[in-house]
Amino acid sequence: MARIPPDHGSYYDRIAAHHVLPLWVDTGKYVPMAPSPPYEPALWKYSEIRPLLFEAGEVISAEEAGRRVLVLQNPALSGFDGTTRSLYACLQLIMPGEQAPEHRHTQSAMRLVLEGDGAFTTVDGDRVEMEAGDFIITPSWSWHGHVHEGETPMVWLDGLDNGLMAQLDTTFFEPGSPAQPHEDSGGKKQGSRLLRYPYCKARENLDILRKVTEPDACHGYRMEYLDPSDGGPAMSTMTTALMLLDQGFDGDSYQCTDGTIFVALEGEGETTMGERNFAWKRHDVFVVPSWCPHAHRATTDAVLFSFSDRIVQQKLGVWREARGG
Ligand SMILES: [Fe+2]
Repeated sequence: MARIPPDHGSYYDRIAAHHVLPLWVDTGKYVPMAPSPPYEPALWKYSEIRPLLFEAGEVISAEEAGRRVLVLQNPALSGFDGTTRSLYACLQLIMPGEQAPEHRHTQSAMRLVLEGDGAFTTVDGDRVEMEAGDFIITPSWSWHGHVHEGETPMVWLDGLDNGLMAQLDTTFFEPGSPAQPHEDSGGKKQGSRLLRYPYCKARENLDILRKVTEPDACHGYRMEYLDPSDGGPAMSTMTTALMLLDQGFDGDSYQCTDGTIFVALEGEGETTMGERNFAWKRHDVFVVPSWCPHAHRATTDAVLFSFSDRIVQQKLGVWREARGG
């Protein structure tokens, strides 16, 4: 039991003048018994955000914007504090003939193509094709730009670890000039990580999983994207996964310490987060906060893509999960 000085009001004022705080006051607020994230469950309907994104396509070019991107800001956070505290989920639009100039940054980025085709991303000069559903990686500090040679607008989801890098004060950024892309590398960066995971192959693997295993009670059929060169996670700061839910799936409650962003790639359903239900359909994006009990239900066969900072928490030895309850 801490001994409080008799004239503690004055004491607190006096130590505050020295930029010193008493840890025994409001300890529970700063060292809670369980995660108490300052952001909340949220869902962005693609049918509502898409027209706003295309409106930006009329008033600002990709060259002017650098990147024509809308950040999905958590309603409980402000400014560019993110979708979770560690991650940004964004929607990016690139119009036919446009080019987003090259740059690089310490934030790792992933793309998940939602609609359109004919664009490619360059990663350290390698050309990486982009088709609907593809999962594409831009590793930390790799040069990258986007070029659209197709006929229709393209939209993809960007996932970035901006909040994590900001918290660690490790953000560096360097603009570059557009470079002539190399030949198509097939998404395989020479001597390095796989950069492109085509959706057609991932979807086939989900179907195989459905044939040979029983669904998990919380996650249905779930696969994580891995780096085939070492069997580790596809990205160094984000765990990325695909889940297939059978029509009628009614999942058990689950909670984990990694706040997770989900994108519906196929089908319809709803997810209960805490006391609230969030109905989702194709291309909707929703966020489940850290340690928030949640359960998925599917009204049709459905595929959910997800990303979170789980791999970072696992590397630090602090990741937890719980089922049921
Ligand atoms: Fe970037």
